[in-house]
Amino acid sequence: MTERVDVQLDALTGLNAGQPAIKGVPREPAPGGNTFYLETFGCQMNVHDSEKVAGVLLGRGYQQVDTIDAARLVLYNTCSIREKAAQKIYSRLGAYAKYPGEEKIIGVLGCVAQQEGEEIFERSPWVRLVCGSASYSKLPDLIAELEAGNRRVMGLDKDTEATFETEITRRDNPFRAYLTIIEGCDKACSYCVVPFTRGPERSRASASVLEEVRRLADAGYSEIQLLGQTVNSYLDPSSKRLSFAELLVAVAAVQGIRRVRFTTSHPRDFGRDIVEAIDAVPELCDHVHLPVQSGSTRILREMLRTYTREEYLEKIAMIREARRPISVTSDIIVGFPGETEEDVEESLSLLDAAQYDGVFAFQYSPRPNTTAQHMPDAISEEEKGRRLARVNDRQREIQRMRNEALIGETFEVFVDGASRRPGQWSGRSSSNRILNFTSPRENLLGEYVSVRVASSSPNCLIGEQVI
Ligand code: 5AD
Ligand code: SF4
Repeated sequence: MTERVDVQLDALTGLNAGQPAIKGVPREPAPGGNTFYLETFGCQMNVHDSEKVAGVLLGRGYQQVDTIDAARLVLYNTCSIREKAAQKIYSRLGAYAKYPGEEKIIGVLGCVAQQEGEEIFERSPWVRLVCGSASYSKLPDLIAELEAGNRRVMGLDKDTEATFETEITRRDNPFRAYLTIIEGCDKACSYCVVPFTRGPERSRASASVLEEVRRLADAGYSEIQLLGQTVNSYLDPSSKRLSFAELLVAVAAVQGIRRVRFTTSHPRDFGRDIVEAIDAVPELCDHVHLPVQSGSTRILREMLRTYTREEYLEKIAMIREARRPISVTSDIIVGFPGETEEDVEESLSLLDAAQYDGVFAFQYSPRPNTTAQHMPDAISEEEKGRRLARVNDRQREIQRMRNEALIGETFEVFVDGASRRPGQWSGRSSSNRILNFTSPRENLLGEYVSVRVASSSPNCLIGEQVI
């Protein structure tokens, strides 16, 4: 097997002339103007897939550019979780009427590609590459076919075996390294398109995960985020048979790793062993993203979420029993077909009961192939909007109170942002809270510092570095 390298953007693209060249990766634009532009929509899985796609292209001698005008290959890594996201890509593609002929190679990747397939070629005849997220392992071959002059190439199989491993992953975020440990989804939530776009669940062998973590630590990363649509459904396919909690502990034990995050957890597979691991291992971040989707057992049944409101709240109680406080965040859908006023009230009261530190709330959007698509009793968009506002208002108030209660506390913050105003920085706590703070020190990016909270808002904490 060829050695995989994980390097940062600057080193691979040559944007930073001070960096040594990486073996086999040219720093100058390849002859013939082999340049690519890549725009990403959607979740962290897509962001990370784009990092791998960029790695594949950089390994083939392409250079990444920041504008469409400068690019020969233009790629969109798309999201189809809600209709609006999927429509966005067609409006992007519509703009290419202004690039006639063969001047640019346009490619559509990701979930819309998987879902729409050949239809994309019909609607946008100038597109030459369509490749779904479940068949990315074929991407290098598809690009080779394009380079060989094939007019149109397509990858739409749903690979059940292969996961998308690349020799080079070009990581965009210099502070947090994403790492997919499980692809696809075997759940069948009635509203969700993911099982159709990303295919069935495939876990990556624990030894391979740990090898990549070691390499990331060697490259200077101290924070790792393990990814999967249902990350905690991880099943080690190797003979080691590590459970998800055991994998977490093993990743946290890698020398140089200070923070391990993971997302998204499915409530059904969320066991006490995960809480015990977080309790026992300080490197495991005290934050769990545990989407509930609805507070009404009746709607949860219709959504095929496989748990009741009470069972979900038992998981929350289990998390709250931990010795160190664990922050919990969630996703909620409003306006699912047949959702009544009582169901909405149940979602609102669940917010009170769960005491989340953050919620992403969405208006239900019917998606192709899903069982909910043609359910009766659709809710009007206007009403969905009202329900969304009610959820957001209630949650905002909860966060306001929760954050206010943190005034005076001190957090360890991993600094990942500098304000244009001197002396102002931002970063995240292990619990994933955003802290904006002042410090007399310089060059704090990438440092771990102690920050005392002086004031708060619903979405962030404000403080100063404790020196
Ligand atoms: N409509 C609205 N929201 C959806 N989500 C998934 N599918 C849909 C849909 N059809 C939300 C869920 C999920 C998040 C990533 O997106 O809340 O957790
Ligand atoms: Fe979609 Fe449900 Fe799978 Fe999450 S668990 S990706 S919501 S089908």
